[in-house]
Amino acid sequence: MPAPLRLGVNIDHVATIRNARGGAHPDPVKAALLAVKAGADGITAHLREDRRHIRDEDIAMLMAALDVPLNLEMAATQEMLDIALRHRPHAACIVPEKREERTTEGGLDAAGQLETLRPIVAQLGDAGIRVSLFIEADAAQIDAAIQLGAPVVEFHTGAYAHLDGGGRAAELRRIADAAALAAKNGIEPHAGHGLTFDNVAPIAAIPQIAELNIGHFLIGEAIFGGLEGSIREMRRQMDLAR
Ligand code: PXP
Repeated sequence: MPAPLRLGVNIDHVATIRNARGGAHPDPVKAALLAVKAGADGITAHLREDRRHIRDEDIAMLMAALDVPLNLEMAATQEMLDIALRHRPHAACIVPEKREERTTEGGLDAAGQLETLRPIVAQLGDAGIRVSLFIEADAAQIDAAIQLGAPVVEFHTGAYAHLDGGGRAAELRRIADAAALAAKNGIEPHAGHGLTFDNVAPIAAIPQIAELNIGHFLIGEAIFGGLEGSIREMRRQMDLAR
C-alpha cells in the first residue's frame, strides 16, 4: 500500500491578483481556509525576495489562521532564514531564486552549495522546522540532501509538465527512480511545479511520493470552476491515480 498522498495548495497567485490592484482582495488567508475545506492537507506560500506575491504580513496571518501545516518556500538567504525562525512554520522548502525569473525555473543546486546550505538546513531543523530541498530528480542532488540531513526533498516536475511524448515519459521515469532512491535513504519525496488535471495522475501514482504542491493551475482553474471545485477535482484525480 503506498503512503497516503497529501495535497499542499500554493496560494501565491491569489496574492498576485490582490497585488495587481494594491488592495486587500482577494485575501490569500480566505483562499487558504477554503482550500483546506476543499481537501488541502497543507498550505504552501513562497515569500520571494521581491515580495511580488506573498508578503511578510501574509505569513504572519497564515500562521495565525491555519490549523494545517504551512510550508514556507524560501531562498537560502539570511533574511529568509530569520523570517522562518521567527514564524516557525511546519516546513520550509528551500528553492533557488533569481530575481528576473517568472517562476522557479529549475531545482536547487544543493550539490554545488553544500557549505552555504549546511548552516541554514541545520538552524531550520534545530528550530523544529521540517526542511525540504526543491531539487531536480537527480542522484547527485539526493546525495546532497543526505549529506545535509534534509528529511524531505521536493522534485521539480516543471520539465515533466512541459514536455510531451517520449520526453515526458523519460522525465517521469527519472522522477520515479529518484523518489525510490530518496525513500530508500530515509528521505520523504514530494513533487511539484506545473501540475494540472491533465498531467497529475502519473506523478500521483509514484508510490513513494508523499505530497504534491500545486498552485498556479488551481488558482487559474478557479476562474472557471471556483477554488473549491478546482481543488476537489485535483484531490479526486490524485486519489484515483493512487
Ligand atoms: N513547489 C515549489 C517548490 C514551487 O516553487 C512551486 C511554485 O511556486 C510549486 C511547487 C507550485 O508550482 P505551480 O504553481 O506551477 O503549481
